[in-house]
Amino acid sequence: MGKPSRLPESGPAHVGIIMDGNGRWARLRGLPRSRGHQEGLQAARGIVQSAAELGLSYLTLYVFSTENWKRTSDEVGFIMGLVRQYLKKEIDFCKSNFIRVRHAGNRKGLDEDILNDLDDVCRETEHFSGLQVILALNYGGRDEIIRAIGKVTERGLPLSEENLTLCLDNPDIPEPDLIIRTAGEFRTSNFLLWQGAYSEYHISSKLWPDWTGSDLEEAINIYNMRERRFGAVYEDVR
Ligand code: FPP
Repeated sequence: MGKPSRLPESGPAHVGIIMDGNGRWARLRGLPRSRGHQEGLQAARGIVQSAAELGLSYLTLYVFSTENWKRTSDEVGFIMGLVRQYLKKEIDFCKSNFIRVRHAGNRKGLDEDILNDLDDVCRETEHFSGLQVILALNYGGRDEIIRAIGKVTERGLPLSEENLTLCLDNPDIPEPDLIIRTAGEFRTSNFLLWQGAYSEYHISSKLWPDWTGSDLEEAINIYNMRERRFGAVYEDVR
């Protein structure tokens, strides 16, 4: 059972967030980058809570990309530590708010204990019908497309848009209506490349650790004023 939605029917069902600016947030304060990531985790917690309160159906968070392994081993280790913490600590919050947790990304490369915790959280919350939080962890849009092509071939299917979509990491999840990027950067950074073909983008100059529920509401309100055409003319999609 989920909470009733506070969003209009035409509001976004699925929002994806590229959480950028943790490092800059820390540098501006003369703090180590790790502190920025720590604050970034707090911001992510707050946004999950706000998304649940707003009645959003799907929220994809870009936690760690297939390219983020290029960072120092200290930084990678620190972020993975935060992921471990999140997976262990948030389970009760998810359960009491009917939140379902899911994973998008490549399992290969992730530590065994993280995979076990991820599988546990996903299994323990799979029956909830409230907000679905998709953790994009060791995720890359190109990597997902290549793996999907592999599955299409393995299943002996002809290569088509429909069949490739069916072989994505979470084929039942609708494409993101809105993709938010914080810290003022205008890049996709390999996030939901296939699913985001017609997503609306919202770029916020605020750094991720400063993001709150009211920023999410503002981004959604701006989205609600947009006209989506999906390549057609406006009259055809009304
Ligand atoms: C981008 O900022 C942020 C990341 C690569 C890590 C995101 C991770 C978290 C917010 C913590 C984990 C969250 C969950 C939900 C488990 P950046 O380091 O690229 O910032 P910069 O561009 O200012 O250097």
